[in-house]
Amino acid sequence: MYSGKTLLATVLLAVPLVEAQAPLNVEQSTGFNSSFTLSTSQIEAANLSSTAALNINVAINFDRSQLANGGPAEDSFYELPPLSGTPIPGTLLKVQEFTNASSFVIPPNTALSRILYTTTNFNGTVIPASAFILWPFTPKKFQAGSASTKAPAVIWTHGTEGFFASAGPSTHRALWYGHEGPFTLALAGYAVVAPDYAGLGIHKSWDGSKIPHQYLMSQTSGHDALYAFQASLEAFPDTLDERFVVIGHSQGGGVSWGVAEVLEAKGDDKFKGLVKGYLGTIAVSPTTDAFIGKIGFILPWIGMILPSIFPDFDISTWLTPLGIARTKLLQEVEGGIAVSTQLFLSGDKIIQDDYDKTWYVDAYGKLANAGRKAFKGPLLVIHGTEDYYIPENATAATVQATCEVVPGGDLEYLVVNGTWHVPTLDATRQIWLKWIEDRFEGRALEKTGCVKSSLESFLPLERYQATGNSFPQFAGSPEFSYQVPLGL
Ligand SMILES: *[C@@H]1O[C@H](CO)[C@@H](O)[C@H](O)[C@H]1NC(C)=O
Ligand SMILES: *[C@@H]1O[C@H](CO)[C@@H](O)[C@H](O)[C@H]1NC(C)=O
Ligand SMILES: *[C@@H]1O[C@H](CO)[C@@H](O)[C@H](O)[C@H]1NC(C)=O
Ligand SMILES: *[C@@H]1O[C@H](CO)[C@@H](O)[C@H](O)[C@H]1NC(C)=O
Ligand SMILES: *[C@@H]1O[C@H](CO)[C@@H](O)[C@H](O)[C@H]1NC(C)=O
Ligand SMILES: *[C@@H]1O[C@H](CO)[C@@H](O)[C@H](O)[C@H]1NC(C)=O
Repeated sequence: MYSGKTLLATVLLAVPLVEAQAPLNVEQSTGFNSSFTLSTSQIEAANLSSTAALNINVAINFDRSQLANGGPAEDSFYELPPLSGTPIPGTLLKVQEFTNASSFVIPPNTALSRILYTTTNFNGTVIPASAFILWPFTPKKFQAGSASTKAPAVIWTHGTEGFFASAGPSTHRALWYGHEGPFTLALAGYAVVAPDYAGLGIHKSWDGSKIPHQYLMSQTSGHDALYAFQASLEAFPDTLDERFVVIGHSQGGGVSWGVAEVLEAKGDDKFKGLVKGYLGTIAVSPTTDAFIGKIGFILPWIGMILPSIFPDFDISTWLTPLGIARTKLLQEVEGGIAVSTQLFLSGDKIIQDDYDKTWYVDAYGKLANAGRKAFKGPLLVIHGTEDYYIPENATAATVQATCEVVPGGDLEYLVVNGTWHVPTLDATRQIWLKWIEDRFEGRALEKTGCVKSSLESFLPLERYQATGNSFPQFAGSPEFSYQVPLGL
């Protein structure tokens, strides 16, 4: 048996960083490595209180500190190669086969690649986009098709990070969802192919025009996902399997559902090369009703990109002058969710009372929303009853309407009693991992047709930690290495 002393000595001896040239340990503050401050004119234009302005500064410095290699503005990976000929969607533009992950916080013994590729916006214009692939140390093996030496693929479609270049998961130290999605999937043996939806990561096209992130357009982002996979197969023909499952959360739950619809769309053979490898889709806490939930967020977020879809849209029909000024500030500072909270959920009047009477609400919902259409199954939809952003009954209504339109479809709706928006992913991890495994194994569905099921917690609900309160913290610089005793 080890005595405490022997064990400690063994551990210390095994840690090379405590040898001769050990760096000075430095306290890591919440100031991180960015020093952004709003200007006086920005504060005045958005009529911000001094508290709100301070809060925004801290939130932006935090967000910027989460950018690996300084984000798209500093990372040469995001520089577009010159355009040769007329761009075709799904074209591979650039492969970074080995992404040096030293400024990411991915789990040890996972490996990262990134690609640039082409996709289309809602109107069919070909635009560049970015994606990452997170590789497992050992690909998961299945009884069925055990001859394959390639890694089984899962397309991961992420939930809302933001709306601008710096909000691409491929540039976030934790790939934005960390252990909630991509880390878990890669550690389970899957190659995780994950698009930054158009407008995120790459924010400008070849001619310098801005690429708006067409927020909540589930099938449009679904195209981004499928083209990213097509380009990834071209980039990694020897290591990436053609067989794939799609899983997404929140905005990305709408997108994964959108993928299932795109693959089923009549008369559309854009993805006929991919269909044969398709095994099914999971949509967790999905957005299927764009204007439900936190409307103070939704109207600025959709309103700022709506002219890219409806050129006549006038944002003053949705937002007050103050709301417009704050949306402008959000764009200037490339703010994400935390900044939006300060700008739009402060209690100040930023929404016009009768925004919902405008034609655009209904028209956009029809274009954007997943559900109520034919889809290529099987589809597993999961939602928690305590979801803070998307009420469970909204998803229940979409599921029911979808089952009426597609009575023969395989759609299981799993309702989880007591779980919140993102934590529903944690509560159901075993279920979705098993579901993915079953599809690769070619097992029959446990439940066919349109079915509803439910999940209760094992212990009384009140004993569980309901919400997340931590994140993977970058400690990769030598002066912070004392923070990762489990890193070596
Ligand atoms: C700006 O904020 C101040 C203080 O909260 C408030 O009194 C004023 O009405 C606001 N102005 C506008 C245009 O919203
Ligand atoms: C923050 O650190 C990253 C390295 O992880 C670096 O590339 C980036 O330039 C730094 N940002 C600032 C604003 O110092
Ligand atoms: C990754 O980048 C770090 C920091 O620039 C460097 O020290 C390291 O050698 C690189 N690793 C590889 C395998 O290139
Ligand atoms: C995009 O398509 C919509 C619907 O077909 C059309 O109304 C709109 O004018 C187009 N928008 C742009 C910017 O071309
Ligand atoms: C969901 O429940 C809320 C609160 O009970 C209700 O206001 C809303 O109309 C319901 N939505 C649907 C789609 O049933
Ligand atoms: C959900 O959980 C709560 C709290 O544990 C319990 O009271 C309730 O009966 C459960 N709901 C259903 C539908 O089982």
